[in-house]
Amino acid sequence: MLKDNIKIAAQMINNSSNTWVLTGAGMSTESGIPDFRTPNSGLWEKIDPMEALSRNVLYNNPTKFYKTGYCILTQMSDFQPNEGHVVLAKLEEKGYINGIITQNIDNLHIRAGSKNVLEVHGNTRTGSCTDCNYKVELKYLTKKIQNNEIPPKCEQCGSSLRPDVVLFGDQLPKEFDKAWEIVNECELLIVIGSSLTVSPVNYLPQISPKVIIINLDKTHYDSYADIVIRGKAGTVLNKIFNSIQMENNL
Ligand code: APR
Ligand code: ZN
Repeated sequence: MLKDNIKIAAQMINNSSNTWVLTGAGMSTESGIPDFRTPNSGLWEKIDPMEALSRNVLYNNPTKFYKTGYCILTQMSDFQPNEGHVVLAKLEEKGYINGIITQNIDNLHIRAGSKNVLEVHGNTRTGSCTDCNYKVELKYLTKKIQNNEIPPKCEQCGSSLRPDVVLFGDQLPKEFDKAWEIVNECELLIVIGSSLTVSPVNYLPQISPKVIIINLDKTHYDSYADIVIRGKAGTVLNKIFNSIQMENNL
């Protein structure tokens, strides 16, 4: 069964001239970053996201935000891309996929060499001013917080700085609108490592003509998929890559 699905997925990718990938936290568990909803290990089993990473806490109780949720953001830079990230970068380089839409804020796709990455839930590289949009490196923000400057102040206008991660309660960035347009025009969307529980990102698989889902557990959208491959992202992506190469006698 798995072998057949790998072959079918490879053929679907080979035959598509406009393929995009949508990734979630399951893409990075093999790098050591826990995902959010896997039973017993997901982050939200231990921390209430509304308490840790919500807009409401950031604005109304910045000390709580910067002492709890913010640490989740700064830890992201300690991890390395895994084989799944590397294979996706290779698939893009060889023209089999056009790019990646990611819900992840861990920066691992970019660090693995992917060029076309739309971060629809923001990133953990930068922060910006809530008023004048002045941009800073996240480490600059961290320094201010370590010096107990909470909320951290913008040196341009004196308002508050904040991380460029989409928090619960935030509007999605323009990258999501771009992602919607892209999926509306794509031929194939490959969804990897996402439970597809969070909207509006979980609408994307519904607007793509063809969908492949690669995920360890069932998702809410398995019924939409042309094929579902139950397996670890790194292993499955490697097998698909090798099957594509075989298809093309490379
Ligand atoms: N390979 C394949 N699938 C995996 C792997 C792996 N190595 N590890 C975990 N998974 C699967 C899990 O089975 C799970 O269904 O990845 C999925 C991850 O789902 P979530 O933890 O819900 O993560 P995600 O879908 O990215 O969450 C979306 O929710 O909390 C918000 O902003 C946060 O961007 C996040 C959004
Ligand atoms: Zn400012």
